[in-house]
Amino acid sequence: MAARKPFYIATPIFYVNDVPHIGHAYTEVAADVLARWHRQAGDDTWLLTGTDEHGQKILRTAVANDSSPKAWADKLVNTSWKPLLETLNISNDDFIRTTDERHETAVLIFLQKLYDDGFIYSGEYEGYYCVGCEEYKQLDDLMETPDGDYAGQLVCKIHGRPVEILKEKNYFFRMSDFQQPLLDLYESQPDFIQPESVRNEIIQFVKSGLDDLSISRSSFDWGITIPWDPTHVLYVWFDALLNYATAVGYGVDRENFDRRWPAVQLVGKDIARFHAVIWPAMLMAAGEKVPSRVFGHGWLLVGGEKMSKSKLTGIAPEQITDTFGVDAFRYYFMRAIGFGSDGSFSWEDLAARYQAELANGFGNLASRVIAMIGRYRDGVVPAAGALTPADEAIRATEQRATDDADAAIERFAIHEALASIWTLVEELNGYITIQEPWALSKDPAKAERLDTVLATIVHGLGTLAVLLSPFIPDATEKLWASIGGDGTVQQQDVRAAWLWTGTGTVTPLESSLFPRIEQPEPAVV
Ligand code: ME8
Ligand code: MG
Repeated sequence: MAARKPFYIATPIFYVNDVPHIGHAYTEVAADVLARWHRQAGDDTWLLTGTDEHGQKILRTAVANDSSPKAWADKLVNTSWKPLLETLNISNDDFIRTTDERHETAVLIFLQKLYDDGFIYSGEYEGYYCVGCEEYKQLDDLMETPDGDYAGQLVCKIHGRPVEILKEKNYFFRMSDFQQPLLDLYESQPDFIQPESVRNEIIQFVKSGLDDLSISRSSFDWGITIPWDPTHVLYVWFDALLNYATAVGYGVDRENFDRRWPAVQLVGKDIARFHAVIWPAMLMAAGEKVPSRVFGHGWLLVGGEKMSKSKLTGIAPEQITDTFGVDAFRYYFMRAIGFGSDGSFSWEDLAARYQAELANGFGNLASRVIAMIGRYRDGVVPAAGALTPADEAIRATEQRATDDADAAIERFAIHEALASIWTLVEELNGYITIQEPWALSKDPAKAERLDTVLATIVHGLGTLAVLLSPFIPDATEKLWASIGGDGTVQQQDVRAAWLWTGTGTVTPLESSLFPRIEQPEPAVV
């Protein structure tokens, strides 16, 4: 047997200064869909997510809430961030916190190695810092505000808040050594950074010159202590980026590390630079492989701006899942926004797509097919007789949808995968209209033709269940059980979705897969 293809995908680890909004949910769902697809294809899959808990931003939030930073992080992780994964039906294999001992231990090993190998030196940092971004800033990253609370001050272009001026003795990472190796990497592996717009921005940034990176702070102590100088803690991004390696055994379990690493890094484009510049430079310095891909997806916008915690424009995921359900949430964001582009969320668009695509298009198809097998064949899926071109066309669409969706997933074009799968929903609905099984059922001479039509539509429906399972796992599991598929739908090879047997006994669905929603918008938004 051929070795299973490894597929390791990680989300960013999120700051625990606040509760999650649908932007974080968006990243989680996308990563989960990709992981479920690969897992269901038999790849050796690992999905990692977690939380980023050190640094000034978390420290200040905790202090403002009369809490220690660790107690604050514990509370947010347990009451908000882990429950988010339940709400969204995320199939993560691990959850890492940067305060986990396993993480801290491996970070020390990594740091010591870079120090011993001469990639770290002590120097003086003088410049700007944005605590919101947890990032050292250049003048280009800042603007002067003419009015408002911060009139006349230099504020971060992203957070709109004043930056701090630092003058500290710091340890520096020799990042400038990696300018050319990084450019060579982007050149020799053109799909290393995706999409193209993010890739171009990053190449421009690296071409304009890389400075060494300050990687320690001494004015506060909420972080991992620098092993050779306990008066310093590690810069929060250096700490956080390492999670992708420490979670799979870096420094401790080489066998597991080699099995999993390198990862696909799925991030929002706001933090693509950290993942496509600093992170591979760190790995090169340590003599490890760089990530296999860095994909910077687009932003969910509110009023044309990135939805954000700091601007209080976040919508809680439960506001949507409580009304529409988790499958609809997952489907909507993966379908409505081209993956890699920005998109705006609207209740109207969500309600319209729910009704047209999930309730009428797919849910209704499932209910009708299941009802017809019950009514005309006592729940036993008949064997097909001679196939006509119309039946063969459905089989061809099943195969094409399977292949096209798989190819789209390989390209991270999640929305295109759904569009390919939906051609089958539409063709099956059209086929039923044309074949009129209800008319065939009235003519005993057409019994074999009715068998063929029923077998064809059940087969199409089963193929849809398998293909849609990574996107809408709950509805497809119910559907699969109802049409009498073997085992669970998640055990079916998604790359061979159209090859399932199509035989079985049908039992009615307990309720519609996507029931009518009386009040599509919450009363208070
Ligand atoms: O940056 N649209 O954490 P963070 C789409 N801890 N995605 C969004 C979004 C939006 N409006 N808002 C947030 C950090 N996201 C660091 C990461 S990784 C080593 C450390 C998602 O809590 C998106 O994935 O600010 C974005 O990159 C991430 O949340 C930022 O989360
Ligand atoms: Mg952020």
